Amino acid sequence: MNRQFDKSVLKHRSVDEITGGRRMRRNRKAGWVRDLTRENRLTASDLIWPIFLISGINRREPIEAMPDVYRITCDLAAGEAEKAAALGIPAIATFPNIEPDLRDQTGSNILAADNLINQATRAIKAAVPEMGVITDAALDPFTDHGHDGILRDGRIVNDESVSVIARAAVLQAEAGADIIAPSDMMDGRIGAIRDALDAGGFNDVGIMSYATKYASSFYGPYREAIGTQGLLKGDKRSYYIDPANTDEAVRDAALDVEEGADMLLVKPGLPYLDIIWRLKQRFAMPTFAYQVSGEYSMIRAAAQNQWIDGEKAMMESLIAFKRAGCDGIMTYFAPQAAALLSRD
Ligand code: PBG
Repeated sequence: MNRQFDKSVLKHRSVDEITGGRRMRRNRKAGWVRDLTRENRLTASDLIWPIFLISGINRREPIEAMPDVYRITCDLAAGEAEKAAALGIPAIATFPNIEPDLRDQTGSNILAADNLINQATRAIKAAVPEMGVITDAALDPFTDHGHDGILRDGRIVNDESVSVIARAAVLQAEAGADIIAPSDMMDGRIGAIRDALDAGGFNDVGIMSYATKYASSFYGPYREAIGTQGLLKGDKRSYYIDPANTDEAVRDAALDVEEGADMLLVKPGLPYLDIIWRLKQRFAMPTFAYQVSGEYSMIRAAAQNQWIDGEKAMMESLIAFKRAGCDGIMTYFAPQAAALLSRD
């Protein structure tokens, strides 16, 4: 059957009839009006700069998968803190690459008052007292198996790990850390760290909870950076969150808030913007994202191949965190982004 084509279908309305005269492009027509109506802004004061440490003096080692990121000695870390301060970056987070012969089954070097993390905190604080120093109390840099807790009979034992982590947190506070950011995901660690800090007279030292840390493949380059890549046996799925879950992340964050967390962190960043949004809406806590090593490497690798504009992709990724509700971002891009912002 050959139906007669209805010509009236082709008669379409004018755009003004369709939109009723409402035109979104008016507010996009020029730079000044785009500036005026911009909803989110990134500033250097939103950034936390994670740095990698090695022992020794005046040494800087490249990390293959992370162009422009280095493992540095404590004296150089102090210099980086000066650079960060000049750029307006408020805080540095430190991650140590511990010498292999100091790593053991229980991560005992984390309880040495003068270990690499604590040496770096002292060096940074001596050079730039006003720089915020954020330290991690997870065991993975210190264990010879690369897990974040103590490994016993093939299992990561929770409660014993928590007592080491809480003691390590006090040593880090003694060295001058301002915020303890435990990345281990053991149950009860926030409450235990709070108790230990308070008992040690450190009630002004805060806790940034890695409330929702996912069992992610985006941590690969970090493991190269701290030298756990070849060590890690198995995976971390018995303590990190399954990437398929969101309610579980909310429940985990709720516990951390109850236990006394001062701030929440979501890790990784970009693949988990929905979690950032949910936590910010739900808890109204200072909320941060960790744009992790693999996210940095992806952007840098694509830029190196000239597949994307690296600077623009960096800034777009950072504003996405603000849009999702972040108060700040822990990112290896911190110095580069801050330098770019100060040029504007
Ligand atoms: C472990 C830890 C990880 C990162 C920081 N601390 C993850 C892991 O190795 O399992 C990842 C950071 C990054 O990828 O930038 N406590």
